[in-house]
Amino acid sequence: MRFAEREVILKDGRTCILKPTLPEYAQEMIDYMKVTAAETDYLLRYPDEVHFTLEAEEELLGKILDDPYTIMMMALVDGKVAGNGSINGIGSKRKICHRSSLAIALYKEYWSLGIGKAMIEYMTELARSAGWKQVDLEVVAENIQAQRVYEKCGFVETGRRHNALRSDDGTYHDEILMYKEL
Ligand SMILES: CC(C)(COP(=O)(O)OP(=O)(O)OC[C@H]1O[C@@H](n2cnc3c(N)ncnc32)[C@H](O)[C@@H]1OP(=O)(O)O)[C@@H](O)C(=O)NCCC(=O)NCCS
Repeated sequence: MRFAEREVILKDGRTCILKPTLPEYAQEMIDYMKVTAAETDYLLRYPDEVHFTLEAEEELLGKILDDPYTIMMMALVDGKVAGNGSINGIGSKRKICHRSSLAIALYKEYWSLGIGKAMIEYMTELARSAGWKQVDLEVVAENIQAQRVYEKCGFVETGRRHNALRSDDGTYHDEILMYKEL
């Protein structure tokens, strides 16, 4: 989806720009996926599971940009990528085509500055105007920080998926299911 840039003043006084993730940022996005996957255990991918080639990533970002129902948003601070987020449909079958799903991650150095909340608010606003009726998400049960941020943005807990994730060290982790009506 193409959408207008939005400027946000962060808690440290810097300005953050929220804008569509353009195909020319493909390499930055591949680097971002690898680094953020290493900075936290709370994302689905391990760094060695980021397999996108530059061409494939460019093509994907181009398709998303032209899709009026899929949001891919990046946050830039001082011209550098601080994070990325997305909202996309969960499936095209008629019984579930009112539902979308949210994902977000920032580089660790940009946590707790207000970027996450600003991105989630803007993405859900755009999702509402695109016609989505609700946004679903899953968050690792131990990821309390993210759950507080989602609650601040109006998401409510609806359930728990037992042992949804198995880490390389053999430990199992539940997922908390959350949703927001649009
Ligand atoms: C989760 C994440 C996206 C949140 O973004 P963020 O920019 O760090 O969060 P914000 O600074 O916007 O915080 C939003 C609100 O939540 C509150 N909050 C944050 N952490 C909190 C905590 N541990 N306890 C209580 N409130 C908390 C903030 O105070 C803020 O409220 P305010 O605006 O009223 O002050 C970011 O920390 C991140 O990328 N984490 C790693 C990846 C991840 O976990 N992604 C989610 C996977 S489901």
